[in-house]
Amino acid sequence: MREKILAPSLLAADFSKLEKEISDVARAGAKYLHLDVMDGAFVPSISFGMPVIKSLRKNTDLVFDVHLMIENPLRYIEDFRRCGADIICVHAEADRHLDRTLNAIKQSGAKAALALNPATDIDSVRYALSLCDMVLLMSVNPGFGGQKYIGYVTEKIKRLADLREACGLDFDIEVDGGINLDNVSSVISAGANVIVAGSAVFGEQTYQNACKFMDVLNER
Ligand code: DX5
Ligand code: ZN
Repeated sequence: MREKILAPSLLAADFSKLEKEISDVARAGAKYLHLDVMDGAFVPSISFGMPVIKSLRKNTDLVFDVHLMIENPLRYIEDFRRCGADIICVHAEADRHLDRTLNAIKQSGAKAALALNPATDIDSVRYALSLCDMVLLMSVNPGFGGQKYIGYVTEKIKRLADLREACGLDFDIEVDGGINLDNVSSVISAGANVIVAGSAVFGEQTYQNACKFMDVLNER
């Protein structure tokens, strides 16, 4: 069975105390830190980029799961790898040459992940799946934290898990957007094993919130 991993999304953290926020989720048992990079073009908002990631790298051994919501990500693969990205995730909708980009990520030494917006069909990336260490299914339209989980994505997770099995492939399935303690079990039951959560983890009680997620993940 695949390991269930919590990937807290730093976007929802208090940026005036990042070191504490990160040590809280690490102490609770999160293995990944999900880092949302937004360029104001692929998505409406702008978040943070290389200097922030590079600084954080000095403070933690968590796996840096870098979710690039940027156009033409190939331009920046090497830069993000140098800043400390362990997993680099690009969007199918932002890249015309996915085969080239996913290979470039692997060549950089990072793990390669491919993200799909909620409405993007899995079949459209069928031939890219063999290049992926992880596939990220967005369960909100990317660009902002704190949105509501889009229900039809649960079915999509099942379809992707079935396709992985049918094709004899071996990638993790990550789900991102609107995940909370009420819906995380159904996301895991559908076949996801890497769980991103932002606003449901970071807040007044970051450590306790992350512990509650870990309890659910460890039960399964
Ligand atoms: C949205 C980002 C998410 C976001 C998740 O575009 O990719 O990672 O931070 O936040 P919540 O868990 O609050 O939906
Ligand atoms: Zn994300």
